[in-house]
Amino acid sequence: MASIPIPPLLLLLLFGVFAAFACHVVDGSRTPHGLGVNYGRVADDIPSPRRSVQLLRAAGAGSVKIYDANPAVLRALAGTRIPVSIMVPNEIIPDLAASAAKADEWVVQNLLPYLAKTRVKFLLVGNEVLSDRSIATSTWPRIVPAMENLHRSLRARRVSSVKLGTTLAMDALVSGAFPRPPSAAVFRADIAEAVVRPLLRFLNGTNSYYFVDAYPYFAWAGNNETVPLDYALFQGGSRYVDPGTGLTYTNLLDEMLDAVGAAMSKLGHGEVRLAIAETGWPNGGDYDQIGGNARNAAVYNRNLAARMARNPGTPARPGAKMPVFVFSLYNENLKPGPGTERHWGLYYPDGTEVYQIDLTGRRPLWAYPPLPAPENNTPYKGPIWCVLATHGRKLNETAVGDALTYACGQGNGTCDAVQPGGECFQPNTGEAHASYAFNSYWQQFRKIGATCYFNNLAEQTIKDPSHGSCKFHSSLG
Ligand SMILES: *[C@@H]1O[C@H](CO)[C@@H](O)[C@H](O)[C@H]1NC(C)=O
Ligand SMILES: *[C@@H]1O[C@H](CO)[C@@H](O)[C@H](O)[C@H]1NC(C)=O
Ligand SMILES: *[C@@H]1O[C@H](CO)[C@@H](O)[C@H](O)[C@H]1NC(C)=O
Ligand SMILES: *[C@@H]1O[C@H](CO)[C@@H](O)[C@H](O)[C@H]1NC(C)=O
Repeated sequence: MASIPIPPLLLLLLFGVFAAFACHVVDGSRTPHGLGVNYGRVADDIPSPRRSVQLLRAAGAGSVKIYDANPAVLRALAGTRIPVSIMVPNEIIPDLAASAAKADEWVVQNLLPYLAKTRVKFLLVGNEVLSDRSIATSTWPRIVPAMENLHRSLRARRVSSVKLGTTLAMDALVSGAFPRPPSAAVFRADIAEAVVRPLLRFLNGTNSYYFVDAYPYFAWAGNNETVPLDYALFQGGSRYVDPGTGLTYTNLLDEMLDAVGAAMSKLGHGEVRLAIAETGWPNGGDYDQIGGNARNAAVYNRNLAARMARNPGTPARPGAKMPVFVFSLYNENLKPGPGTERHWGLYYPDGTEVYQIDLTGRRPLWAYPPLPAPENNTPYKGPIWCVLATHGRKLNETAVGDALTYACGQGNGTCDAVQPGGECFQPNTGEAHASYAFNSYWQQFRKIGATCYFNNLAEQTIKDPSHGSCKFHSSLG
């Protein structure tokens, strides 16, 4: 078996495969057809828009989605033939809904100047608006009216190529991130009639898509004891038969998509097409999170690219073509929340790739170099602390001082040990006191969702920061 000679034709084909994916990197003039990429910019250390366009091309991105109509980004994308999807920030939705003139003004200022040189595909009005309960009254009922006003403006200005949509997270469904069985999924009662039904009517009437943010990562992480990792990574590992439909599922993403489809059908709009506004896998995360690593991220996104290139659709919608946008172009250092939030990138902020990826899906999985072995696919069980982090940069003393004041202002006795005479007063520096305070705060409040972040000044560690008689507590240590 080991020594079967490779026939010359096969060698030629193999060379052809390599040549094909080698050339799309160099040949920037061709319109690529790979997965779309979300170009998120919540960071203070990422490359320029112009360099970002090169990096999008190098990964074989078929289109790009941006979170606002940033002029510098739109200028960099002009003339590149990369289709662009633009998002309307949540904050301006009420204004655009209240006044047709305001909506038209927005179109004139933010869209029209770029249309000559940029192919804008989708205008997405709001980002996961229905996940933010603080804007339930002000904004939820205004999404569709804002879309209608924008649509009228586009038509009046003879722009017919831009479709409108809005992006919704899986929490639009009663069952949330892991709706099993998919066929039983329904939209939340607080939005189904009031928002989703008119939205679906609008999407069908304009032949647009329901844009969902679908992250098998979260569904798997929250159910890591019952859902095999391979099932979330498109690597088999399990099958699931929906008792309601008899359909067999081979991966978690398909279950999530069909759940959204089932919920739409129950509102009488099963005909509306689906698009994936965000999906992906984190390449890193905190010690108390699991499965965020470069190996899993590479496997997920490579399999996704190869799969979507075949347009498989889903078990309930076989063959359905679906626009898909991977999250995200960069690791974004200013995203708050747990560590995974800052680790979705295809690239590090210095522009080097986290792992190789061909978003066109043409490069076969075996043609990639080996990946580092994952170390956090099961929960970490030891003690964890939260300390000041330099991330290789010079710290801003004012910011450290502000964070220290904030941490010490929470809870009772959070900073007693760093007061004069306290066992952690020495060394008497803002940095040492901040480390103590961050940990003290986080250990008290992590149970109720506090994260070890402090505006990118803190990070988790498994190395005990205690020194001398100064003890840093940990829930397990
Ligand atoms: C969806 O739109 C099509 C075409 O306009 C229309 O024929 C159909 O009745 C609509 N479906 C629903 C459920 O409204
Ligand atoms: C692993 O899954 C269990 C339930 O299956 C959940 O309670 C736990 O929080 C998960 N662990 C992580 C790190 O997400
Ligand atoms: C330092 O942090 C303060 C408070 O967050 C901020 O106002 C200031 O602009 C920062 N300075 C620099 C140089 O980044
Ligand atoms: C601090 O202590 C007071 C009095 O015991 C208590 O009422 C309060 O809830 C405590 N605050 C926190 C954040 O633990």
